[in-house]
Amino acid sequence: MNVARSFSSLLVTGGCGFIGSAFIRGLFSNLAFDGRVVNLDALTYAGNPESLAGAVDPERYVFVHADIRDADAVRAVIERYAVDGIVNFAAESHVDRSIVAPDAFIETNVVGTFKLLELVRENPSLHFHHVSTDEVYGSLGPTGAFREDTAYAPNSPYAASKAASDHLVRAYARTYGLSVTVSHGSNNYGPYQFPEKLIPLMILNLFESEPLPVYGDGSNVRDWLHVEDHAEAIWAIVRSAPAGETYNIGGNAERTNLQVVRSLIQAVVEETGRPASALESLLRFVTDRPGHDKRYAIDASKLQRELGFSPSREFESGLRQTVSWYARHGAWVERVRSGAYRDWIQTNYRDRTPK
Ligand code: NAD
Ligand code: TYD
Repeated sequence: MNVARSFSSLLVTGGCGFIGSAFIRGLFSNLAFDGRVVNLDALTYAGNPESLAGAVDPERYVFVHADIRDADAVRAVIERYAVDGIVNFAAESHVDRSIVAPDAFIETNVVGTFKLLELVRENPSLHFHHVSTDEVYGSLGPTGAFREDTAYAPNSPYAASKAASDHLVRAYARTYGLSVTVSHGSNNYGPYQFPEKLIPLMILNLFESEPLPVYGDGSNVRDWLHVEDHAEAIWAIVRSAPAGETYNIGGNAERTNLQVVRSLIQAVVEETGRPASALESLLRFVTDRPGHDKRYAIDASKLQRELGFSPSREFESGLRQTVSWYARHGAWVERVRSGAYRDWIQTNYRDRTPK
């Protein structure tokens, strides 16, 4: 049975990242939230408050520079701002980084989620939504799709850390009777994504005539979900899903990596008028990622059936808009790459961490 949750003060963790910032921009626009948003973010390399510039109502928005592992800081935020719901986006999110340096993934994704759950245990009237990934289900063969009851089989340290956090969320709900929901999104794309993930990396390399490194033979398949569809789906789940439920969120856009790169080449040709042959010549097949999952696909029928949600953005036009966005936001790219937005923070934000 669906519910109708409402919130007056929502704590969003990781709200300066790619998806968290899209969610907060949505809360102040099409998602039409009228309460307070408290954005708590540690500002790692992936967290950029500039992604929210001009998109929030300063009367109803608070930024707190803190780490989700710091229970005292988060507890103070919950008390000071009378938080009645948490949406947890804070995470280390890049598979390649997790292969090279997994420690931070265990710290933030596992320990950080555990610390948040302990605080929900102290404040059991809070609703907790955990943003997870389809990568916890492992890798598919040529057919089939992940369902919510598919067995977990994570293959990267990133996926394992997300799986571990999902298990903690489930266990805390069962053991302590907490109100939780969990979502498993597929690969996201759209504006404001840090240029280490496939799509923004390829777009910028195309703009700059740098090589396009395709892992293996480019035949790995991902399902692509526009970040704004993802934000809308999460909001539908947070507000309406029964406690204890989990939902897969997909974009109805399964593509091989090579198809994605070729679509990007086409989109950059349209954007810049450069000849396709010059861009095609940048393609490089490089050594594969260890443990590289072959295929992800999402069965999102539960979300459609129970909450009436399905994504509305079509992949190829979403890609073209994303290419245009990166073409028009060179200054944003410049600053995230250099970390220079940290200076911008000093001049534009007061550190409002409760003392
Ligand atoms: P991101 O890397 O762009 O952003 C992560 C944010 O969390 C950053 O703002 C960072 O500063 C913050 N953060 C990191 N460690 C923190 C800590 N210890 N305390 C407080 N803040 C911290 O990630 P994203 O792509 O926006 O992903 C957000 C969530 O969605 C993650 O949980 C990820 O697993 C999940 N997800 C991502 C995708 C995807 O394709 N990107 C798909 C499905 C699910
Ligand atoms: P990525 O954006 O890292 O997401 P994930 O690994 O979480 O799915 O990668 C998407 C796909 O693109 C994945 O199959 C790995 C591949 N890939 C490349 O081929 N080259 C690259 O430079 C990157 C970053 C990814």
